[in-house]
Amino acid sequence: SPVEVKKICCIGAGYVGGPTCAVIALKCPHIQVTIVDLNQSRIDAWNSEDFSLPIYEPGLDDVVKACRGRNLFFSTDVNKGIQEADLIFVSVNTPTKKNGVGAGYAADLNYIELATRQIAAVATSSKIVVEKSTVPCRTAESMRTILEANSKPNCRFDILSNPEFLAEGTAIDDLFNPDRVLIGSLQTPEGISACASLTAVYANWVAKERILNVGLWSSELTKLAANAMLAQRISSINALSAICEATGANIDEVAHAVGYDSRVGPKFLKASVGFGGSCFQKDILNLVYLSESLHLPEVAAYWRQVVEMNEYQKNRFSKRVVDTLFNTITGKRIAVLGFAFKADTGDTRESAAITLIKNFLNETAYVNVYDPKVPHEQIWQDLQEAIPNKPLETIQKQVTLSASAMDACLNAEAVVIATEWKEFKEIDWQTVYDSMKKPAFVFDGRLLVDADALRKIGFKVTSIGRGG
Ligand code: NAD
Ligand code: UGA
Repeated sequence: SPVEVKKICCIGAGYVGGPTCAVIALKCPHIQVTIVDLNQSRIDAWNSEDFSLPIYEPGLDDVVKACRGRNLFFSTDVNKGIQEADLIFVSVNTPTKKNGVGAGYAADLNYIELATRQIAAVATSSKIVVEKSTVPCRTAESMRTILEANSKPNCRFDILSNPEFLAEGTAIDDLFNPDRVLIGSLQTPEGISACASLTAVYANWVAKERILNVGLWSSELTKLAANAMLAQRISSINALSAICEATGANIDEVAHAVGYDSRVGPKFLKASVGFGGSCFQKDILNLVYLSESLHLPEVAAYWRQVVEMNEYQKNRFSKRVVDTLFNTITGKRIAVLGFAFKADTGDTRESAAITLIKNFLNETAYVNVYDPKVPHEQIWQDLQEAIPNKPLETIQKQVTLSASAMDACLNAEAVVIATEWKEFKEIDWQTVYDSMKKPAFVFDGRLLVDADALRKIGFKVTSIGRGG
């Protein structure tokens, strides 16, 4: 009969491991959950007395407050975490490879391999090992080979794939009410039994019909497929936004009417300055690499185009700003509102704002940046990485980090909305207008503000997916 899970260890205390396992601890008070990480400062932040957690996620602090010290623990003692657990989530980062074979496309599986080897080296009893990270199809096979080649007598390792579908900014809601929980296993008696053990954990709060059990390879591929298809919707709507701008059609009207078809559905059709985030681009490139390795170049080209369209959208928007400002922004001051890749997160990985600011700096403009959640050091670090050929001091002469949206806008020649933070809707636009050089421009990359109301004040407004 399936093992009853009493102790869980999660390797990786990041955006996925932290919230996911904190919610398991909340919903399963009878299970002891320990989240381990090599990064001491991250663990210190998870353990901080004032709950200044290492990631910003609405509702996360309440979950951690309810269970930290009860059945939820954060630690850098990875070995102890592994030894005590019946079930181990591997939730480490899997970034795009920077060097070697597949550089720029393939996933860097080094962190997965190191974590797997550590499990094999220190485990003294049988474990269910769960891939939580997003990985290329058949990674579980490599993990099994490593575990079996290094295991001690009486140590069995069963491997499951359990990809995570939460979105940042809504992670806690997504974890409380997931559309589905996907668990992949080998279709052997042992695999099916391990799958039943993990299913029983989720069944504490997720309806049975939403827990899908499939084969290992289907589970791994489903994660890449889901992200590719979500990103493809955004690239499709953004491609249409370019047609709207050229014809006078309105992308919000088009998306609304198309989404009314129940086969298409209304969600995830918001035109934007381009998608960001740590995963869409990485996972599609991973799928492109997989397709190429399987000698399927047409399939690779199809998915690659989703990423290319996104690059085009970011650069097209920057160019529209320059074109509208009479073909030059040299020496002009531009306010960029928002630096995170979406609202309700402090995460900046692959944020479209980075590309925009880089383009504006290349045109030798001055830029004021404001984001309600992103720490200033993070903004400097991201800009330095995006513009490696310029010393940080030079970048800092061109960029000012503002303390509020109002501060950023005052005296600017143009305001660019890069992230859909709600507070940008509530800006006192009349005061902003009065302070700006005329004509005063607003570029709405998120279809966030009421363009007509701003035009009444006197602004020249340019929105994604609208002509004029
Ligand atoms: P992250 O970088 O925030 O967290 C990963 C953590 O793992 C880091 O803190 C790192 O120090 C730690 N780590 C790496 N190797 C380790 C080791 N050997 N031992 C202990 N700790 C180790 O990454 P993330 O955003 O949480 O993403 C993790 C995985 O989940 C990725 O594969 C990603 O594709 C996937 N994913 C992410 C999201 C998301 O919204 N961020 C959603 C779904 C899936
Ligand atoms: C995405 C997926 O939605 C999650 O299901 C998945 O688990 C996760 O990737 C992952 O694997 O990391 P996330 O990147 O956190 O989640 O956030 P999304 O809400 O998907 O937004 C991604 C980007 O697309 C953001 O820049 C967002 O502004 C943009 N977007 C989203 C649009 O431009 N238009 C839309 O209609 C929706």
